[in-house]
Amino acid sequence: MNKKKPSILVVGSMNMDLVLQTARVPLPGESLIGAQYRYVPGGKGANQAVAAARLGSGVVFVGKTGEDAHGAKLKEQLEAEGIATELIAPDPRTQTGLAIILLEASGENRIIVYPGANMEIREEQVQQAFERSYDAVMINLEISEEIVIEVCRLAEEKDIPVILDAGPAKPFDLTQVHGLLEILSPNETETLALTGLECRTPQEAAIAAGKLAEMSAARFIVIKMGEQGAFLYDHGETEFLPAHRVKTVDTTAAGDAFTAAMTAQYILQDDLSRAIQYANVAGALTVTKLGAQPSLPSAHEIIRFARDRGLDFS
Ligand code: RIB
Repeated sequence: MNKKKPSILVVGSMNMDLVLQTARVPLPGESLIGAQYRYVPGGKGANQAVAAARLGSGVVFVGKTGEDAHGAKLKEQLEAEGIATELIAPDPRTQTGLAIILLEASGENRIIVYPGANMEIREEQVQQAFERSYDAVMINLEISEEIVIEVCRLAEEKDIPVILDAGPAKPFDLTQVHGLLEILSPNETETLALTGLECRTPQEAAIAAGKLAEMSAARFIVIKMGEQGAFLYDHGETEFLPAHRVKTVDTTAAGDAFTAAMTAQYILQDDLSRAIQYANVAGALTVTKLGAQPSLPSAHEIIRFARDRGLDFS
């Protein structure tokens, strides 16, 4: 492949994240005083789009907001990253997606998402996006299933590889996209939701990945295993790629950074194992900073981190 600037279509969610920092989360019935809060642009789709753009991809984004201040701010943020936003349609009957994030001092988070406008993305928006071609399409499950399926169908018609980041964790019938995915990439909790199988060790990941491959017929399965690393399953061949140790400030959007970095590198080099090593660096750097989009690394930061650790991605 060896292209200089990958072109990626992202169809996905946009949320305003309300991040409340707290020493610990409250017990049932308990009230606590939080340390501070801030509004941060997020949403799995938008995070993946920003991550891909910062790593040098040309990105077209399809999404939906309400006609409100949060929606305007989120769109503005994507534009500032050089992302094409013409296919983001504001909808007066709904509100922009919101994620309430409780962030503990340990860096661990708990997230509740109000999907709002994200569930209102229309097929016509998607069809318009497919009037041109791309090197890859990235989607996630924070939008309606109908749209996920329509995106896969249109991509198949145009022979464009689809990368499905299976977040957030929810049951999704993978047979609906059977044979339509290049890469299926859930984390451990998403794997459990999709297969009913635990995924705490590389051995468990191998079994779960086999099941995911059987259910989806995706060409590759890549399970994100948080601070452990990532697990690649390629037609029965497996590889575990360990994560980098860093000081965790906030894990939000690490998975999004990983998926986007893996996709962009896979397009450039056609070597998924190497792309995952690159993505492991993107994920590691993301957890060292607070918030979703502000924490997503640039290509320069990834190269510098990799060099410091004796890796070479040139
Ligand atoms: O993946 C992280 C994202 O999940 C956050 O930005 C939040 O919006 C939720 O959708």
